[in-house]
Amino acid sequence: MSTEKNISLKAYNTFGIDVRAKEFISVNTRSELKEIVSKSEDFFILSGGSNLLLTRDIDKLVIHLNLKGKEVLKENERSVYVKVQAGENWHEFVVWCLEHDFGGVENLSLIPGNVGTAPMQNIGAYGVELKDFMHELEALEIQSGKIVTFKNKDCQFGYRDSIFKNHAKGKYIITSVTYKLTKHNHKLNTSYGAIQSELERNGVKNPTIKDISKAVIAIRQSKLPDPREIGNSGSFFKNPVISKHQFRQLQHKHPKVPYYIVSETEVKVPAGWLVEQCGFKGRRWGDAGVHKKQALVLVNYGNATGLQIFELSQKIQKEVKERFQIDLEAEVNII
Ligand code: EPU
Repeated sequence: MSTEKNISLKAYNTFGIDVRAKEFISVNTRSELKEIVSKSEDFFILSGGSNLLLTRDIDKLVIHLNLKGKEVLKENERSVYVKVQAGENWHEFVVWCLEHDFGGVENLSLIPGNVGTAPMQNIGAYGVELKDFMHELEALEIQSGKIVTFKNKDCQFGYRDSIFKNHAKGKYIITSVTYKLTKHNHKLNTSYGAIQSELERNGVKNPTIKDISKAVIAIRQSKLPDPREIGNSGSFFKNPVISKHQFRQLQHKHPKVPYYIVSETEVKVPAGWLVEQCGFKGRRWGDAGVHKKQALVLVNYGNATGLQIFELSQKIQKEVKERFQIDLEAEVNII
């Protein structure tokens, strides 16, 4: 373990923001992590950097989680429990599951980021969320230095939300996650319209988990920018939930507004639609912009600063509020 000083974090965040870390250390094992955490007064944990907007230099020690490894803990005829270390890349884990014919994760193909941060925001796409197949996770409790286990229900998962974004925030470092996956008897989720059309287009009648993954990858590639080419953090905002009453007024003015029913009293409206209606889609200010195919994704075309992206996000929030009286909440962690 060696510490580097004053290094750029550009390669460590998918937005590609060039801020500096005062000190930087990459940890490869849980014991290294425990040791460095016990010795450090103040630090910043960096994992896949895929849900992060860095608006300033990090004036402390940055601990880069690089814990690797996957192991099958137990299995029976129908299911398998796989324990994955936090620093494993999410999509590489999905590919590994497909190769082993383990089902559950296929709808979450191509999501940037690492396994350890996936539970924090309960990653989700195309009708599936991580909470649907996560069994438990282990985390280092910073104050006590102990490893604690969180069962699925302890994580208080919600839409892009968990206990780790709320009252457990900053108190734990997730070190590994155990998933319960299916063998042979996969429960396929093709409810999402775009998946159905993509399968039809490919002439697939009885899809396998690999077919679903292929369809999801094609859909994502058609509208979401690849962070290796254009810096971004996926959806920048959460889809807002509004009252049915407010939704009726909105629908009255805009009969074509897309929506998802949340409950008897609440409706979720796609933030991408709201942002597009305000005229932001495809616009660019210097190197900061709004993606041309999906208005929910803010992008860095090269040398935007975190502050420029942040200011753009505020401008969008202001316009959406003025036009629709709806508050957009950032999904990305802004530092
Ligand atoms: N829409 C627009 N304009 C846009 C973008 C979307 O009108 O620029 C409309 C679409 O026409 C569609 C609706 O909004 O009717 C929903 O769009 P889409 O299917 O692209 O999904 P989303 O609600 O914008 C969410 C997730 C994505 C996830 C997709 C698919 C959130 C914040 N985002 O996006 O997650 O991939 O559904 O399940 O819930 C992420 O979290 O980083 C992410 C990419």
